Amino acid sequence: MLSIQDLHVTYGGAVQAVRGVSMEIPDGEVVAVLGSNGAGKTTLLRAISGTLRLHRGRIDSGSIRFGTTDLAGRDPAQTVRMGLVQVPEGRRIFGRLTVEENLRAGGMASRDKAAKARAQDRVYDLFPVLRERSSQRGALLSGGEQQMLAIGRALMASPKLLLLDEPSLGLAPRIIGQIGQVIAEINRQGTSVLLVEQNATMALGVAHLAYVLDVGEVSLSGEARELARTDEVQRLYLGHDGDGDGTTRRRATSGRKLSRWTQ
Ligand SMILES: Nc1ncnc2c1ncn2[C@@H]1O[C@H](COP(=O)(O)OP(=O)(O)O)[C@@H](O)[C@H]1O
Ligand SMILES: [Mg+2]
Repeated sequence: MLSIQDLHVTYGGAVQAVRGVSMEIPDGEVVAVLGSNGAGKTTLLRAISGTLRLHRGRIDSGSIRFGTTDLAGRDPAQTVRMGLVQVPEGRRIFGRLTVEENLRAGGMASRDKAAKARAQDRVYDLFPVLRERSSQRGALLSGGEQQMLAIGRALMASPKLLLLDEPSLGLAPRIIGQIGQVIAEINRQGTSVLLVEQNATMALGVAHLAYVLDVGEVSLSGEARELARTDEVQRLYLGHDGDGDGTTRRRATSGRKLSRWTQ
């Protein structure tokens, strides 16, 4: 569905944020991209959604194909109309608008009223709490509910491929579990998902395939289940940068340290 070949991205003509990344997102699957801060995950999503330019970034070389269409040079509105919708990091919702108004804003690109009504039903079925709170202002929602609203808003555009940027960030483990379940359900309903995460436990739990980004390059990729067993990913579970020896890391992988880190 989405095919990225040897992608190079720089900011301000200087910072090389993505360096020769190739990636395949098959139709109907959840693909996770793991990596620590600064690895280039957000940059990758910006390149796909056409929002790089808003951040003084640009694609220097390589290609991003969605089906048979080359995405290079498309603007954000075009990519949304093609079915690629991004939920940016930091769950940026409209705090002064109600839940329902936030959702309506997500459907603005489409004129198909019936499709929008169906999308809204879908969102409220996925997130019953949003239906209960439909007339409340976004600012009054909890962090987890705001993340659900941010995802719901993206679903209002009926995406073929949903791009999620660290949906677990700053949320408690129980809420992260719910977000993971809802991503799996969204996928079961037919939407492909590209899930950028630092929380490897959640991401590898829902993803079919996964890639590990390390300073702008793919260092590891494969079936999510296989990847979860590798040392490199074990390090990511802990958010370590590779200091200390393997024994310590492996021992620390199980236990409370993990849940504290994911909070
Ligand atoms: N707007 C920007 N201008 C300049 N450099 C940026 C910008 N956004 C990100 N970067 C740099 O690009 C690299 C990758 O960042 P990013 O894609 O945000 O990583 P991640 O999402 O994995 O944390 C980092 O070195 C970061 O400092
Ligand atoms: Mg990021």
